[in-house]
Amino acid sequence: MTHTQPTKLDAAHFDSKARQWDDNPVFRERGLKIADAIRKAVPLRRHMNALDYGCGTGLLSFPLKDELGAILMADSSGGMLEVVNEKIAALGVSNMATLQLDLLADPPPSKKFDLIVTAMTLHHVPDTDHILHIFHDLLKPGGYLCIADLDQEDGSFHGIEVDVHHGFDQADLGRRAAQAGFADLQFQTVFSIAKDHATGPRDYPVFLMTARRAGA
Ligand SMILES: C[S@@+](CC[C@H](N)C(=O)[O-])C[C@H]1O[C@@H](n2cnc3c(N)ncnc32)[C@H](O)[C@@H]1O
Repeated sequence: MTHTQPTKLDAAHFDSKARQWDDNPVFRERGLKIADAIRKAVPLRRHMNALDYGCGTGLLSFPLKDELGAILMADSSGGMLEVVNEKIAALGVSNMATLQLDLLADPPPSKKFDLIVTAMTLHHVPDTDHILHIFHDLLKPGGYLCIADLDQEDGSFHGIEVDVHHGFDQADLGRRAAQAGFADLQFQTVFSIAKDHATGPRDYPVFLMTARRAGA
């Protein structure tokens, strides 16, 4: 019997995708829809200090940049961050900085945040409980966490051979977030990604979870 090795989508994979990332209209629309939902769910303020974790090319945070204070754009892919840096320079943005970071491997930033946003990244992070605890520690008391990701699916989104989480069951993620110290948990569906398969078209809903670190 032959076994196929699981495919890892590592930083080199995302480096190779970075230059074409913004050409995809679905990615652009997804970022805008998630940003809209965050805007409605969280009272954004110009003094809020934010972290976009797994920022990619910044499709989520560029639309929010005028409603927030300093935004740290963090990603494990240097290629993605190169694109973000070019966009920062081209647009003359003064409140964004980039940091190559894998929170499961690198020391966390020393400053604390009012808001952490992360879009379509959690399913690439192997240890969900660990990253939720790190997010909790990185937030100020009362700070907001916004996670956008796929609802639980059967592995067909990336292909069954790809080693990622197959989306998330909302109730299970909510329990894990509560265990990590988050309160005021809310889920909503903010987007849906259509993909064609041999068996026909299929929709993959994207949820937004918003939560707060207790102790405001
Ligand atoms: C599907 S892309 C989403 C990018 C962007 N947030 C968006 O919505 O367009 C996932 C991003 O997460 C990054 N990523 C994957 N694993 C990561 C990790 N452990 N730490 C930081 N970033 C990671 C990838 O480099 C990639 O940029």
